[in-house]
Amino acid sequence: MFKPRVLFVCLGNICRSPLAEAAFRKHAADAGLDAEADSAGTAAYHVGKSPDPRSVREAAKNGIDIARYSARQIDEDDFFRFTHIFALDQSNLHDLRAIQPVNSTAELALLLDTLPHKMGVSVADPYYGDEEGFAETWQDVSEAGLAIVTQLSAPIG
Ligand code: 4NP
Repeated sequence: MFKPRVLFVCLGNICRSPLAEAAFRKHAADAGLDAEADSAGTAAYHVGKSPDPRSVREAAKNGIDIARYSARQIDEDDFFRFTHIFALDQSNLHDLRAIQPVNSTAELALLLDTLPHKMGVSVADPYYGDEEGFAETWQDVSEAGLAIVTQLSAPIG
């Protein structure tokens, strides 16, 4: 049985992609979808750190504990280990395309392209803003996470 392995990638892997991973995990569990999930950053600034406390609080509000997630940087193997890689914004997508090996097997896409009404839209970086930005991030990544789970759960036809 095909098991999707889904990677979410932002810049630092401390704000947006941990929330995207958490939201996807939640929707997959709710739907009974057997899938792996992880997240990473294109940059190495925060490697080994826990998510931003504002992301930890936002996830907790939605019933998920991400305090023990640990930031890491994407590497070449990820393009073979994962079936799907979702970039949180256009800049990350651009950077991922630049390092994607030519024989990469992962499908690479912009996260909000999974939502017909948000095609081409980036998940805004909440790092320099206030707590409210993290609630907006959750809305975006949760909606997209559900769309991905729905798509992956659809019978292959
Ligand atoms: P993220 O947010 O990419 O959603 O994890 C950021 C985290 C750190 C920085 C920028 C964005 N930074 O410049 O350190």
